Amino acid sequence: MSFPDGFRWGVATSAYQIEGAARLDGRSPSIWDTFAAVPGAVANGDTGDVAADHYHRWPEDVRLLVDLGVDAYRFSISWSRILPEGRGRVEQRGLDFYRRLAEALLSKGIEPFVTLYHWDLPQALEDLGGWRSRDTSGWFADYAATVHEALNDVVTKWVTVNEPYCSSIVGYGEGRHAPGAREGHGALAAAHHLLLGHGLAVQAMRANGAPGQEFGIVLNQSPTVPVTDSPADVAAASRQDCLLRRQFTDPLFGGAYPDELTSMFGAITDFSFRHDGDLAIIGEPLDYVGLNYYYRLHVADAPHREPDPAKRTAHDIGVDTTRLPDVPRTGMGWPVEPAGLTIALTDLKARHPDLPPVYVTENGCVYPDTETFEDHDRIVFLRDHIAAAEAAAGVDLRGYFCWSLLDNFEWAHGYKHRFGLIHVDYATQKRTPRASYHWYRSFIEAQRTQG
Ligand code: NOJ
Repeated sequence: MSFPDGFRWGVATSAYQIEGAARLDGRSPSIWDTFAAVPGAVANGDTGDVAADHYHRWPEDVRLLVDLGVDAYRFSISWSRILPEGRGRVEQRGLDFYRRLAEALLSKGIEPFVTLYHWDLPQALEDLGGWRSRDTSGWFADYAATVHEALNDVVTKWVTVNEPYCSSIVGYGEGRHAPGAREGHGALAAAHHLLLGHGLAVQAMRANGAPGQEFGIVLNQSPTVPVTDSPADVAAASRQDCLLRRQFTDPLFGGAYPDELTSMFGAITDFSFRHDGDLAIIGEPLDYVGLNYYYRLHVADAPHREPDPAKRTAHDIGVDTTRLPDVPRTGMGWPVEPAGLTIALTDLKARHPDLPPVYVTENGCVYPDTETFEDHDRIVFLRDHIAAAEAAAGVDLRGYFCWSLLDNFEWAHGYKHRFGLIHVDYATQKRTPRASYHWYRSFIEAQRTQG
């Protein structure tokens, strides 16, 4: 395979999934701490209290990154470590932690890619309405500006929000993620306020005026395929695509929300959370866009779960996504379709010809472990997906980040599902690189030699 000069090979993680130290050094609870404490919300009653204890073991994790030979490491900042009340008072110990990490990475030639929001809203702000409330967009921008001001000498690559679809529709609609709400209007308002917060944050960080800074957003981009070409299935796939992809990409890169989004809900007619001028903020030009790809969605038309339109949640759009094609699946049950990554990349570019440069900011998989951690399936998965990324003709692709460096807290699934190139024994916190770690190291090395 051949990738352009300067192409960044990396791995990704997020704060709540690996850090632990949930109550240390002034950190206050986020919505994920609260949600994980609700019986039945997370498999096995797992929480992020300890996770992979990265907060204490980060020097060892940096050594593992160095051995892996990556150019870049994508991690996220825990908002409630920096601003325990979500706004106002700054906790210096939080900023110090991320500064030490970024400095250690830089000293080893690894570029930090920092995500400001990877799903862990301070609970104090959820208590004031969370992402349903327009105020949260402004507080997010304030938080972004604070972190940016403190760290812009050691970080130049910034991601505002990670997968706003999950934070809004899965968190406030489906209720499978924190804060566990099952709403219609509230979830669509949350999506808008995440986008608005993103735009305000980019503007606020740019206003800080530091040189060489680059700003982007990370979107999950599962291409949708109707299971048949019947008009009903095609329409269902379009609704799904609208909810998951175009709700975000159209305002970000096309200056408008899709009309379909305003018409497809029936009972949700109040879009007054969109104010004049918001689209200009959301459309603030970006330096790059990050794309996360795991699987394609195969969509059939289906009855709504809730017959009364007035009571429907925002994810109840009359679709069935369980009719999968006859292809291998990962341990998550997700269909393995590398070509979907090519399609995700080329579709986005086709719909938005002026798209900024792109990074694949996440891609990875779960498979059952063997005793010796010979995860051959993961190696094949990664190799095929990297090849699929390379095949995306016409896309200005700048890097690829594997999810994930370490096994970690896989949200509502807890610790059961393991995405790491490195196995974590949660009883001892021992890290053991899997075969895929060694494979990825040789792969990166070979790319470099070729370049
Ligand atoms: C995307 C999310 O950003 C990440 O947090 C999660 O662990 C992976 N998908 C795998 O589900």
